[in-house]
Amino acid sequence: MSTPPAAQDMQATADASTTDATALTREAIARVDSSGQLDDVLALPDHLRDALWRVESAIMQDWDTSAGLVVAGMGGSAIGGALARAALGDHASRPIFVTRAYGLPPWTTPDTMVLCASYSGDTEETLACYESAGALGARRTVVTTGGRLAEMARADGVPVIPLPGGFQPRAAVAYMTVAALEVAALCGAGPRLTSEIDVAASHTEQLVAEWGPDAPEDSLAKTLARGLHGTIPVVAGAGLTVPIAYRWKTQINENAKLPCFMHELPELDHNELVGWEGAPTVGRFSAVFLDDSDIHPRVKERMELTERLIAPHAAATFRPQTRGQTTIERVISLVLLGDLVSIYLAALRGVDPGPVRVIDELKAALAQG
Ligand code: PA5
Repeated sequence: MSTPPAAQDMQATADASTTDATALTREAIARVDSSGQLDDVLALPDHLRDALWRVESAIMQDWDTSAGLVVAGMGGSAIGGALARAALGDHASRPIFVTRAYGLPPWTTPDTMVLCASYSGDTEETLACYESAGALGARRTVVTTGGRLAEMARADGVPVIPLPGGFQPRAAVAYMTVAALEVAALCGAGPRLTSEIDVAASHTEQLVAEWGPDAPEDSLAKTLARGLHGTIPVVAGAGLTVPIAYRWKTQINENAKLPCFMHELPELDHNELVGWEGAPTVGRFSAVFLDDSDIHPRVKERMELTERLIAPHAAATFRPQTRGQTTIERVISLVLLGDLVSIYLAALRGVDPGPVRVIDELKAALAQG
């Protein structure tokens, strides 16, 4: 099957002045990418498969928790819970809640499963949630590479889903998503999606070929990165794509070292839409609307109309679509696209996508306190 041109995947209006002549080849990216972040993104299909194996090897019992699932984590470790919730959609049979804080929701009971997700295992907010869950007598599971979290879980006899080391936490997104999906199934909050995840891995492989660095320069991910270059991106999601919009924002923040903001439809039509009128007076903003085949029809209409109303005030607007049949395929498709766009943006800006020094500095300063 031939590679569909970028225009089939998105609507776009772009200001020609945003284009950049840098070829987004592996070699060009390697010049800035000192720790191989691109390779970690391209390995997303393998991560999905490996994650399934790792959850299975943690040999967890089925624990029916009628109060649902809380995923506790921060940043790159919390996003998997939010993506899993989106992928389960209407098939979630119990509440699934993501907390990014020092505490658990007040309704957490001994009948709640709390999945503590921390790539390093040393994130203080997540450690606090782990302890609160223990104090409340809630069921706990941990997903981590090690750290204090793994130590405490092993001492407490709490199951640990072991993650491979050597990544930036945000590069473990597939692991965190699969862990949350599988734990949701184990505690009765959703159906088991093991075979769908396996099929989604193959689907993602095709998209890696289509949007990766070996694809033509006019492929979707490269076109998007060039269109966003030199602007402050504002990403909007709706329904399934809301947590994906958040993922785009955080990946553009951390990989491309840029401010980036997100909002969701239909809410943004009731406030942010007005703010766009002043956008050209303060900077060059671009808008990305993450579209999906299953968005509520009225929200879809809103998305198209909103893009048209914002376009005169934006440096560029884009509307990429999810790809795939199942919800997990569709979620992962736009996660992959956003991750690639953020790495390409880093290359266009000449910045190393890997290190997040200011986060490390902040954590070190807090550790002194
Ligand atoms: O991307 C990052 O490095 C951060 O968002 C981290 O994920 C976040 O600070 C939490 O750390 P950890 O994932 O180790 O719990």
